[in-house]
Amino acid sequence: MEIQVKPIQVEHAKEAQILSKQLGYEISLNDTIANISEVLSSKTHVAFVAIENNEVVGWIHAFKTTTIESLPFIELAGLVVDEKQRGKGIGKILIEKIKEWCKEQNVLSLRVRSNVKRKEAHQFYLNNGFKEIKEQKVFQMNL
Ligand SMILES: CC(C)(COP(=O)(O)OP(=O)(O)OC[C@H]1O[C@@H](n2cnc3c(N)ncnc32)[C@H](O)[C@@H]1OP(=O)(O)O)[C@@H](O)C(=O)NCCC(=O)NCCS
Repeated sequence: MEIQVKPIQVEHAKEAQILSKQLGYEISLNDTIANISEVLSSKTHVAFVAIENNEVVGWIHAFKTTTIESLPFIELAGLVVDEKQRGKGIGKILIEKIKEWCKEQNVLSLRVRSNVKRKEAHQFYLNNGFKEIKEQKVFQMNL
């Protein structure tokens, strides 16, 4: 079956929301629409959907990171493939699309932070050209 990769649009929000749930995030449709709109209006964010038979079967979101101390790199903010469609090469296609975008941005470093619990995703990243470089803790403050 042919997979098409297209820039995400607000019309993909409902299907993207369902996939976000599979990724482990409960988010409302309105907030998903707001997030997609924010990505679309940003010069440093990009998101693509994978479409098969007119259905969204995966999405990927990345952003350019600028820090004082390092050269710019691009970070994956999220990646999910429909649980019924995994293992068919869709995740790999979405990563390839982001690699192209990195090259267009002239940024040649792509990074992803992944929860320690996501062992399968770690294997996927290792099988697709990433190398593990460090472990981190995440701290948060609610204001
Ligand atoms: C991780 C995820 C995006 C992979 O997508 P996918 O479409 O199933 O992966 P693909 O079919 O494109 O796999 C591409 C390659 O990775 C390998 N791979 C995929 N999942 C793997 C796994 N769990 N273990 C080992 N290798 C794996 C495939 O064998 C394939 O290798 P090949 O090119 O040598 O054949 C998908 O499993 C997913 O959505 N998981 C849940 C959400 C998640 O954890 N997202 C990442 C958050 S950091």
